[in-house]
Amino acid sequence: KIIVLDFGSQYNQLITRRIREMGIYSELLDHTVSADQIRELQPKGIIFSGGPMSVYDENAYSVDREIYEMGIPILGICYGMQLMVYNLGGSVIPSEDREYGHADIKVLNPDSLLFEGLPEEEPVWMSHGDLVRELPAGFSKLAESANTPFAAMENPRKKFYGVQFHAEVRHTKYGMDMLRHFAFDICQAKANWTMEDFIDTQVEKIRQEVGSEKVLLGLSGGVDSSVVAMLLHRAIGDQLTCIFVDHGLLRQGEAEQVMASLSDRFGLNVIKVDASKTFLDKLKGVTDPEQKRKIIGKEFIDTFDAEASKLKGIKFLAQGTLYTDVIESGTSNAQTIKSHHNVGGLPEDMQFKLIEPLRTLFKDEARELGEKLGLPHDLVWRQPFPGPGLAIRILGEITADKLEIVRVSDAILREEVKNAGLESEIWQYFTVLTGVRSVGVMGDGRTFDYTIAVRAITSIDGMTADFYRMDWDLMQKISTRIVNETPRVNRVVYDVTSKPPATIEWE
Ligand code: XMP
Repeated sequence: KIIVLDFGSQYNQLITRRIREMGIYSELLDHTVSADQIRELQPKGIIFSGGPMSVYDENAYSVDREIYEMGIPILGICYGMQLMVYNLGGSVIPSEDREYGHADIKVLNPDSLLFEGLPEEEPVWMSHGDLVRELPAGFSKLAESANTPFAAMENPRKKFYGVQFHAEVRHTKYGMDMLRHFAFDICQAKANWTMEDFIDTQVEKIRQEVGSEKVLLGLSGGVDSSVVAMLLHRAIGDQLTCIFVDHGLLRQGEAEQVMASLSDRFGLNVIKVDASKTFLDKLKGVTDPEQKRKIIGKEFIDTFDAEASKLKGIKFLAQGTLYTDVIESGTSNAQTIKSHHNVGGLPEDMQFKLIEPLRTLFKDEARELGEKLGLPHDLVWRQPFPGPGLAIRILGEITADKLEIVRVSDAILREEVKNAGLESEIWQYFTVLTGVRSVGVMGDGRTFDYTIAVRAITSIDGMTADFYRMDWDLMQKISTRIVNETPRVNRVVYDVTSKPPATIEWE
């Protein structure tokens, strides 16, 4: 395995992911981990991630210095490289200007294992403030760019390497090759990690953490919580009780589907609570999206508390939090964009201890995991659905009537996408009840009704997205059906915005 030490870069998980893509197990650890802890893990290599700090900052993140004495290869990326230089006696200059974006580097030693077989000039992605001015003893310069005299460095005897650019992002054209060289040629790691191993490790971890205690899981009907349910079921069997809180904000037929697949088919312990009326009451008059999320998150937990107290002695609460939720909620140093209900919406006086076994996984990894755990392909590859459900697809106040409008229009859209065979081509597709009402004419009469927006996007992990280029004839069919079959709708528009600058959901 190769471990990644986290210095706060928003790309830190991406490094872990890239290593896993090579079939090598990788985990992200806090930079405060001790040399002894690292020794126990027996990693083949260590990567220092980037980070927003300067090594000169007060309380700048650092490492246990003994790490440099363990004979384990180290690759420092950006801040990670600067830290290595600083720790080992070189010097780093605090600079006023940040270099950000594309740069071309010139490789000075093409025989270095890190750059073996790569072109002498290549594009990379820079994002840094400080610069290395002087290398520590034993190091030599590997590459330079116009603004970065030390773009890469090596100490082949100690197997220490550093790159000033972000090798883990796609903009660094040969970044994957460099990481591969580091992992296979420098660290001599073997590609022997699979999703099965992830399952084994997690199962073991969950068993250790949970012991003989009981775990409660909120089933939302989405992919993530179903996968967590299956994983926990595998780890602790009947110690898991799932509570399916039907908050009344689900899509048409979804509640029934969840019960049928998990409870009937796989025999999980599922208690279904119909709380739709309470949720609607609490959401009455609320128009602010973040407020909606908070209320739903809190109500969810309260419902759990009430149900859990009936069950006696439940200690843990499991959740299907994914990495996307974690970074977008600003848990690392990234800015808060939306407080996803899985993370940010949790009240602080929660009575449970949290278990989030998917926290390090990207969506597609979670899906692969689900399939490996025996969930049917079509269930696993269903489009993602947000925790707060249709509540964030109704702009403004939520009412039972409006819920019906999104539910009916959404069902039509889903049916048409399915009939067109596009389910796996479009990453996410749904309808939004905009607050807009406009004039229309139906039959002989004037109408003044709602506008439905259709949103369909392609994406890899939900962090960025592009609007789906939908066929006009299909659009027409969808639009006609929505207007004809949905109450109080007389107009349909298509959202042609990417993320960024928009987000996927409208709220
Ligand atoms: P945005 O709208 O932030 O969405 O571009 C990215 C992905 O996250 C989903 N999403 C949520 N999921 N709770 C969730 O569990 C939320 O509050 C939430 N808001 C958005 C969204 O559907 C998309 O897949």
